[in-house]
Amino acid sequence: MNVSEARHAFITGGASGIGLGIAEALAARGVQVTIADANEETLAAVLVSHGDGWRGVVLDVRDRAGWARAKAEAEAAFGPVDIVVNNAGIAPNGQTFADMNPDSFDRIIAINLTGVFNGVHTFAADMRDRGRGHVVNTASMAGLATSVAGTGAYSAAKFGVVSISETLRGELAENGVGVSVLCPGYVQTGLSLNTARLGGETRGGGLAMPPSDISPEQVGDMVVRGIEANDLYIISHPHNWSGVEKRIRGLLAAFGQDL
Ligand SMILES: NC(=O)c1ccc[n+]([C@@H]2O[C@H](COP(=O)([O-])OP(=O)(O)OC[C@H]3O[C@@H](n4cnc5c(N)ncnc54)[C@H](O)[C@@H]3O)[C@@H](O)[C@H]2O)c1
Repeated sequence: MNVSEARHAFITGGASGIGLGIAEALAARGVQVTIADANEETLAAVLVSHGDGWRGVVLDVRDRAGWARAKAEAEAAFGPVDIVVNNAGIAPNGQTFADMNPDSFDRIIAINLTGVFNGVHTFAADMRDRGRGHVVNTASMAGLATSVAGTGAYSAAKFGVVSISETLRGELAENGVGVSVLCPGYVQTGLSLNTARLGGETRGGGLAMPPSDISPEQVGDMVVRGIEANDLYIISHPHNWSGVEKRIRGLLAAFGQDL
């Protein structure tokens, strides 16, 4: 999709980090943005600093009635949503499966996986019927390669987001609607701190994350390019290939094939 022709984008987790980077990159192309976030305080602060063409809605992506309200309000203000970015998420809980708190597993799946389904469910049929639009779902490198102990619930959710995106792309392709899945490696954001603030369990109790080589703003620009090219996979950290290669080599070997 030509992003400059899009009028309205709806971005979850848009008050912080990667979601805010994507919102800023879209707004820089003249797209009006609705940012949806569970954190009322950070949402209000972003709106104060961003002005015209930005709206905010308090939304917990687990709340299906809230999704319907948020869509109605957003479209009443800025018109039909052309781009939906299902990006809200929480951090890994640091727990191995043998010792995992089941409530913590459920929470990660509800926000990081079912939250993405809820966004697709809210917007995809309208986009299909209008014959126009693009869906971006934020997964992770942890959705492409098995990750380290303590990130298993997170990784299970992110593999699911990749799968939703791959299937949805095939389902909508004939209707002029594109689908991309963003799979970032490590980006310095408030992910752990925000997860702890919103009541989730994290490794080390929500520590600030160390610097990374890719910023949320750079990821935002990559997402705009990915939408324009209708790329299925948006890979922000191609140098982190080794974990994916190891998994693919294992699969190929099991099928008796070489890379
Ligand atoms: N930062 C990384 O290294 C990294 C790597 C790979 C994938 N990701 C993914 O990127 C996405 C954005 O994370 P980020 O790193 O920018 O962190 P972030 O904490 O800066 O942004 C996440 C936003 O989602 C919001 N949020 C959390 N739970 C919510 C809920 N239930 N409903 C609505 N909003 C909710 C938070 O308030 C926050 O504003 C997440 O899906 C995350 O899993 C991040």
